[in-house]
Amino acid sequence: MSLFREHAAELSAETVVVAAGRPDRAHDEAVNPPVVLSSTYYGTGSLGDGDRGYGRYANPTWEPFEEALAQLEGAELPGLLYASGLAAVSSALSLLPASGVLVMPSHSYAGSLVMAGELAAKGHFELRTVDITDTDAVKALLAPADGKAADMLWLESPTNPMLGIADVQALTDAAHAAGAIVVTDNTFSTPLVQQPLSLGSDVVLHSVTKYLAGHSDVVLGALVTSNPEIRAELLHHRTIHGGIAGPFEAWLALRGLRTLALRVERSQASAATLAQRLKDHPRVESIRFPGLPDDPGHERARKQMKGFGSIVCIQVSGDAARSGAEAADALVKALRLWLPATSLGGVESLIERRRRHTAEPESVPENLVRMSVGIENVEDLWADLEQALASLDT
Ligand SMILES: Cc1ncc(COP(=O)(O)O)c(C=O)c1O
Repeated sequence: MSLFREHAAELSAETVVVAAGRPDRAHDEAVNPPVVLSSTYYGTGSLGDGDRGYGRYANPTWEPFEEALAQLEGAELPGLLYASGLAAVSSALSLLPASGVLVMPSHSYAGSLVMAGELAAKGHFELRTVDITDTDAVKALLAPADGKAADMLWLESPTNPMLGIADVQALTDAAHAAGAIVVTDNTFSTPLVQQPLSLGSDVVLHSVTKYLAGHSDVVLGALVTSNPEIRAELLHHRTIHGGIAGPFEAWLALRGLRTLALRVERSQASAATLAQRLKDHPRVESIRFPGLPDDPGHERARKQMKGFGSIVCIQVSGDAARSGAEAADALVKALRLWLPATSLGGVESLIERRRRHTAEPESVPENLVRMSVGIENVEDLWADLEQALASLDT
């Protein structure tokens, strides 16, 4: 047993991201785990649970990341790494029984909504979407007086891209009372900011592509649970459906995780500064950032999060010459430092008008721009935003 594993429970998350998932301290052993590139493993006896066997069943390069993520989320079992966040979504949805009922936020990540919608349309389960910030409305769908109770509650908080804040503990309690399990997509917060298992969730999901890997150079996903039956079902799904991570990507994710605490600290602070400045800008019609005291999700976020995340969304005002959506596009094009690209959670600041994605729900305003604040100097980020906003008036 490594020194880290013996003392892990006493360590802060800032230390865990650096110390977790290292090889044992044997003389001349490497301090970083190696990338194991092998599609099969030696073996002659019977092959069962716990054996590596074949490259789709297991890869030692996944394990340090899976151990580290479990430590960070406060899980009692190792996490499960997947080929992408959506592969993890697919695996989590497989926990639904045939003809079961799924309650999902109407502003979940668009890909999760599309997947759930398509499976529901094929009759795999019933999908009920709801404003996840409206606790009473969610409760009514979890256990309707005249209908079937839900089997799974999907939570995303803050939601992508509306930044709505769900009351995770209250909804989790209501879901469990209705007999449903709870899956929480924790991508936006990371375990450093929010720990859904400690708020009662059964499964936590990450698009590792985002903050955990942190450098916009890998696509990966993960699930974490402390429930052995659920983990066994998820592992079986991953093995049989094949949504496994490439070993090099897994290695990059662990390397990225080492700086998660520093990145989150910096980007959260910068997001708060930028939101404060943007909220009074004449070209900003409205702003969403749970860290602003008058944001509708502020009080809830303060209770269940350590910080407010690093995503800021604004609606850009139009004028006589341009609609709000056209002004938003012009803003994105006028930026020199911010990268006009989708995704979030990387070291570099990214910005995009969300409705450029045809899959984004129509309830997301056309002029809404999502900003993923990176770790650049905040004054450089602000200067770039200021010049781009000013260019809309010239
Ligand atoms: C909140 C959230 N969940 C899941 C996903 C899907 O992850 P991936 O793109 O890694 O498949 C995304 C991607 O943007 C996301 O933002």
